[in-house]
Amino acid sequence: MARINDNYLKLAAGYLFPEIGRRVREFGEANPDAQLIRLGIGDVTRPLPSSIISALHKGVDEMAEASSFKGYGPEQGYAFLRELVAEHDFGSRGVKVDPDEVFISDGAKCDSGNIQEIFSSDAKIAVADPVYPVYVDTNVMAGRTGTVDDQGRYQGLIYMPCLEENGFLPELPTEKPDLIYMCFPNNPTGTVATKEQLKTWVDYAKENGSILLFDAAYEAFISDPEIPHSIFEIEGAREVAIEFRSFSKVAGFTGTRCAYTVVPKELNGLDAQGNPVSIHSLWNRRQSTKFNGVSYPVQVGTAAVYSPEGQKEIRGLIDYYMENARIIREGLNESGYETFGGVNAPYIWLKTKDGMASWDFFDHLLNKAQVVGTPGSGFGAAGEGYFRLSAFGDKENVEEAIRRIQQGV
Ligand code: MLT
Repeated sequence: MARINDNYLKLAAGYLFPEIGRRVREFGEANPDAQLIRLGIGDVTRPLPSSIISALHKGVDEMAEASSFKGYGPEQGYAFLRELVAEHDFGSRGVKVDPDEVFISDGAKCDSGNIQEIFSSDAKIAVADPVYPVYVDTNVMAGRTGTVDDQGRYQGLIYMPCLEENGFLPELPTEKPDLIYMCFPNNPTGTVATKEQLKTWVDYAKENGSILLFDAAYEAFISDPEIPHSIFEIEGAREVAIEFRSFSKVAGFTGTRCAYTVVPKELNGLDAQGNPVSIHSLWNRRQSTKFNGVSYPVQVGTAAVYSPEGQKEIRGLIDYYMENARIIREGLNESGYETFGGVNAPYIWLKTKDGMASWDFFDHLLNKAQVVGTPGSGFGAAGEGYFRLSAFGDKENVEEAIRRIQQGV
C-alpha cells in the first residue's frame, strides 16, 4: 500500500472550524428546537452587491457566445483585473505595485497556505500566537515541525506570543526566522499595527534576511486613517515582503472565491549556493504549474468592485459589519466582559470571566445562549482564556445574540 505523508499525522485534532462544526452539529441533534446564532467562522451573510451580480451575469453571458467565449485564462489573472487592483488598492495610496506583481487567485487561505512550498523544507518559521491556523498547519504538513505538545505548540516553530501585556502585538523573535507570518488587522485578535510598528518588522527582516508573509485580508475594515492598509506602505518592504489580500470579506466573496497575492520583483530568496533567486518568478512558476486561474465570470464580477457603484456598495457592506462589531463590543462590555479588537477589524476578542478555559466557554455559550463563537485556544496556546466573535452575522441575529448573552452568560 502507498505510504502516506506522515506529517499529516502530526496535525493536532481537526482543523479548527470543522471541529466547531462537528460540536455544533452534535448540539443541534441533541437540541433540535435550539435557535442557533453562528458568530464563529468569519463567513459573510450579506448577499453580493447588485453591481457585482450584474457583472457576473455579463461574464456568464460572454461565455455563451463563440465571439466572446473564454477558455483557459492567464494563470496569474486577467490583465483588466490586475490593473484595477494595482491602481485602486495600491496606486491610490501612493504605493507602487505593478499589475504583473499581482497574482489573482481563489483565496488568501490557499495562497497563504501554498506560499511555503517555494521555500526550503528546513526554513525556520515564525508565527504569532494566537494565529490563523492555516499558517501553522501548512508548515506541519510540509514537514517543517516536530510533534505537537498538549497545548497545541509544534516543536521547531518560533511562536511569538500576543498577549494583553504586549497589546496583542508580536515581539521580535530572539531566534532568527526565514519566514515570518503576520496578519493585520489581525485574525483572531482584531489588533492593528501602526506604520512605526511595521517599520520595525521590515527593518528586522532586512537585517536578518527574513521574508514577511503579510496577510492583509481584513485591511478594508480599517477606519483609523493613521493605520497602514498594506505592508508596502512601509519603506523597504518591497525587498522583504509578500502580501495576501482577499475579496471574501470586503465584497462578500466567501462563496464566490477571488483574492490576490502581491509578490514584488525586488524580493529574492537564496539558492543552495547562496545566489539570489527571484521569489516572483518562483511563485509564477508554481501558479502556472498548479493553478488554472479564477473563472472568467468571477474575475469580471470582481472588477465591478472597483466601479463607483461597486465601491459605494462594498462601503455599505463594511459599515454594516462594523456596526455589528460595535453592537457586540459594547454589549459585551456592558455585561462585564473585557474586549479587544472590533474597531478596525471585524473580530472581537473577548476575555472569558474568571479565567474560564476557551473550550469551556464555547460549551457554556452554546448551552446557555445557543451562540456559536470560536475558542481562543483553537488559535494557539496564548489564546487560552479568550474567545473570538465574528461581526459577519446578520444584524438581527447579532442583536439577539447580545441580548441572550446579557440575560444569562
Ligand atoms: C475565520 O473565521 O478565521 C475565517 O473565516 C477563516 C478564513 O477566512 O479562512
